[in-house]
Amino acid sequence: MEIQKVGVIGAGQMGNGIAHVLALAGYEVVLNDVSQQALDGAQSLIHKNLARQASKGKISEAEAEAALARITLSMKLADVGATDLVIEAATERETVKQAIFEDLLPHLRPHTILTSNTSSISITRLASRTDRPERFMGFHFMNPVPVMQLVELIRGIATDEPTFSACQEVVARLGKTSASAEDFPAFIVNRILMPMINEAVYTLYEGVGSVKSIDESMKLGANHPMGPLELADFIGLDTCLAIMNVLHDGLADTKYRPCPLLTKYVEAGWLGRKTERGFYDYR
Ligand code: CAA
Repeated sequence: MEIQKVGVIGAGQMGNGIAHVLALAGYEVVLNDVSQQALDGAQSLIHKNLARQASKGKISEAEAEAALARITLSMKLADVGATDLVIEAATERETVKQAIFEDLLPHLRPHTILTSNTSSISITRLASRTDRPERFMGFHFMNPVPVMQLVELIRGIATDEPTFSACQEVVARLGKTSASAEDFPAFIVNRILMPMINEAVYTLYEGVGSVKSIDESMKLGANHPMGPLELADFIGLDTCLAIMNVLHDGLADTKYRPCPLLTKYVEAGWLGRKTERGFYDYR
């Protein structure tokens, strides 16, 4: 099964990065969103990030231009259906994702592989609501997509081998490394990363350290590229909370209890960089 054309649903933080790397690797990409403004914003961000890579000599100007030309923007799900692989990268809410798949199904070609970039939601459950659970799986990129080397590939209970190997091949063509994960809450990266971030928020909540001392401790004491609170702001505090809730509900263990301070920030609308306020103030 050769993948040539890929549909990406959602032009936000993850979706634009996914479209960027796919186009750079030579895939034709249909980038879809319900908002034209989001699509235009994604296109100019991809342009800016490709130009940054070209100015650093990582890619040529011609490669950057060709990549941009391979991305078609569309608000119609029918355009996404006419592809070989769909990567859904919409908001991390199960109802939103399920509604998208439901609307997409009538437009899909029989052979199209359906995937979700979900960072924590059950692949088996998402797949069960489609007409192709055997051709459904998790395709989880890390943020920022053009920089991070890993893609988690998650098999649902029904995912077949040709589907898994087709996705593995795509990851290899992107020049990235795939890690295979079983379908349990938050898979591998977020199962380990989010409790650490949550613990950093507890460390702040209990007054053990300040935002600055917590982040500096982990950067200089554990060689992390970003402190955990800075990273939480980067990922989005709403996403961090949603993942902690998936772990807490799915594994029924109090060790995954979201820190009340994290909940409070989300309730305040302080979601990190995207709202210009989180543990840091970006205004
Ligand atoms: N597109 C293209 N290139 C980009 C980019 C983007 N969006 N963002 C950064 N870069 C490039 C820069 O151009 C730079 O390239 P060079 O090395 O060639 O100079 C390189 O990345 C480093 O960027 P900066 O110099 O601007 O900044 P930095 O050195 O502080 O690194 C960082 C930034 C790569 C984000 C680094 O801080 C980092 O690795 N942070 C941790 C990120 C992380 O943990 N991500 C995973 C989050 S968890 C997740 O995603 C899973 C989930 O489901 C929530």
